[in-house]
Amino acid sequence: MSSWSPKGTTLEAKKLVDWYRENSRPLPWRKNRNPYPIWISEIMLQQTTVKAVIPYFTNFMKRFPDVESLAEARIEDVYERWAGLGYYSRARNIHKAAQEINALSRFPRKHQQLLQLSGFGDYTARAVSSQAFGEAVGVVDGNVIRVFSRRFGLAVEHWKTKEKRVLQDIADHYAQLQKPSEINQAFMELGATICSVQSPTCLLCPLKRNCIALKEDRIAELPLKKPKRPTEIWHWNVDLFEKDGKFAFVKNEYAPFLKKQWILPGSVSQKKTVPKRFDFQHAITHHKIFVEITRRKSKFDGAKFADLTWFSRKQLKEKVPFSLIQKTIDIGLGDKKTR
Ligand code: ADE
Repeated sequence: MSSWSPKGTTLEAKKLVDWYRENSRPLPWRKNRNPYPIWISEIMLQQTTVKAVIPYFTNFMKRFPDVESLAEARIEDVYERWAGLGYYSRARNIHKAAQEINALSRFPRKHQQLLQLSGFGDYTARAVSSQAFGEAVGVVDGNVIRVFSRRFGLAVEHWKTKEKRVLQDIADHYAQLQKPSEINQAFMELGATICSVQSPTCLLCPLKRNCIALKEDRIAELPLKKPKRPTEIWHWNVDLFEKDGKFAFVKNEYAPFLKKQWILPGSVSQKKTVPKRFDFQHAITHHKIFVEITRRKSKFDGAKFADLTWFSRKQLKEKVPFSLIQKTIDIGLGDKKTR
């Protein structure tokens, strides 16, 4: 059992928000309380750092300045602005959710309502409702997990829903003590700037007086580390068909990576060791992919893939913005013989 005490938290919450007001970074989505930019930034921030997100965010807002413009866009245009951020299912979900919101009379304000929308998990729903609408709910992201684990000296296996609950309880407690938008972002900001993974600057921390890990010299061991998902080796045999400057694609229902995306036809098999023959390798999340390309004559027997779709180079850029596919075509065209 992990237990914690709220002792000292009222004063501490005030101190932390004072620190936040002095030290928060002027980020583009913090300019006002419009839920739309807050939502988009929160989704982007789940993938990478604040610094990396800013240019994508600015670019995205220029092209899709509000829910309506996003809802009415073609998914290919959304992918195009998302290219480079990875996790394309997130782009698909924000597009879908924009259409769902557009069909309502207004942006849902409570996290319980936001949870009904595509792609809104517990974190996003709480981040949007607290930051845009002041709902008194806490948020728990990677930064907050680190701050709470250290501040309260909690060795919780936070990747397990049940164990994470205690961290959510703490966050909800703090959200009652100060403006939810500020205290939530203050914890995230503290985790991103002071209470860092490798070398936290505890001397500058507004929570240092109450920090149990600091007192007990357990900073390095907290938070607990999630065991890594073992990597899987896959051999991907690609059939590269080219006809009049176009390439043949299928909707991916056969490979465990790039699920439901346009993909080159072929077959996959999981391996225990690195395959003997391959043209290049590429990693997507925990999949290590060894790609073997066969150029095929454009005449196709049609038995295996009934519905091929053909894209030109130009179309590829917006329909299939995945570097694995781009690389496969470039390398495939490079020095391969047609069979
Ligand atoms: N990381 C994710 N969302 C954030 C926010 N609103 N402020 C600081 N860091 C964040």
